[in-house]
Amino acid sequence: AVPSTEDLNRYLDEAVAAAQEAGNLMLECFARNDAQASVEEKSSPADLVTKYDRQVEELVLKRLRTAAPDFRVLAEETANKEELTDAPTWIVDPIDGTTNFIHRQAECCVLIGLAVKKKAVLGVCFIPKLDELYTAVQGRGAYCNGRRVVSSGCKDLTTALVNLHLPSYSRGPKVVDRILGISRDLLAHPIRAMRCGGSAGVDMVHVARGRLDAYFEVGIYPWDVCAGQVIVEEAGGVCCDTLGGDFDLASRRVLVAASPELASQLAVHLRNHSYSSVEAEDYNGDVPEKA
Ligand code: IPD
Ligand code: CA
Ligand code: CA
Ligand code: CA
Repeated sequence: AVPSTEDLNRYLDEAVAAAQEAGNLMLECFARNDAQASVEEKSSPADLVTKYDRQVEELVLKRLRTAAPDFRVLAEETANKEELTDAPTWIVDPIDGTTNFIHRQAECCVLIGLAVKKKAVLGVCFIPKLDELYTAVQGRGAYCNGRRVVSSGCKDLTTALVNLHLPSYSRGPKVVDRILGISRDLLAHPIRAMRCGGSAGVDMVHVARGRLDAYFEVGIYPWDVCAGQVIVEEAGGVCCDTLGGDFDLASRRVLVAASPELASQLAVHLRNHSYSSVEAEDYNGDVPEKA
């Protein structure tokens, strides 16, 4: 069943407390400057994890499991094999933007989302270095540090600031060609400017509060986008498939925009560059050739 308003309030409080506790740990790490010391590679040299990702995940999941023992959990570092079902599910990315975190950039965050019937209903994103806490519950608006946020409403690609992400799972020829192709096309269109992001969560809340007009990526996981989806939609923005169709948390692709008009203009370009039909197998095994 969909949680009651009272239950959602309680879950929001718990998620906020967990995100703040996690953020404190990240700030301690920034102060000690020791993230580099524990870097390990996962699937590729661009796919990294530190002891802090694991510590944050542990403390966040402990809190969430205490608050709602019956809920399922999907989390990047430890509970990442679960299928997304209709049951209420906490979806957690302990540190989104691990590479930024390792390089001491501010753009990294803790993401806690709650999905019910495979749809995100509550989202918390905390960016500790900026001291920005974003929260949203479906139907109740999006907030940053308690103040309502709204997207820029940008409707025109020529005035849009757009973020593109470089994938961490593959830098093989297919993936590189796709990134270069869409970049060339968007720059020539022209869009106002393009940036390269390092945290799906940060970019989504930036779209939500009007600092950025759009972001798109293929290869993402539910934990990268669940919390952000609620925050973006409650701020008047749009999350959809890169085809422009309905967003599916489990589909591994997302297009986020400040308005439906902007989303459909971008989707046209993404379709032309096969950002529309990206399947996991397009990426897996697409390894760079050895020199
Ligand atoms: C990554 C970041 C990055 C995005 C990747 C994500 P992580 O998450 O959000 O910006 O491009 O797709 O995997 O690994 O730093 O949590
Ligand atoms: Ca990761
Ligand atoms: Ca992530
Ligand atoms: Ca992560």
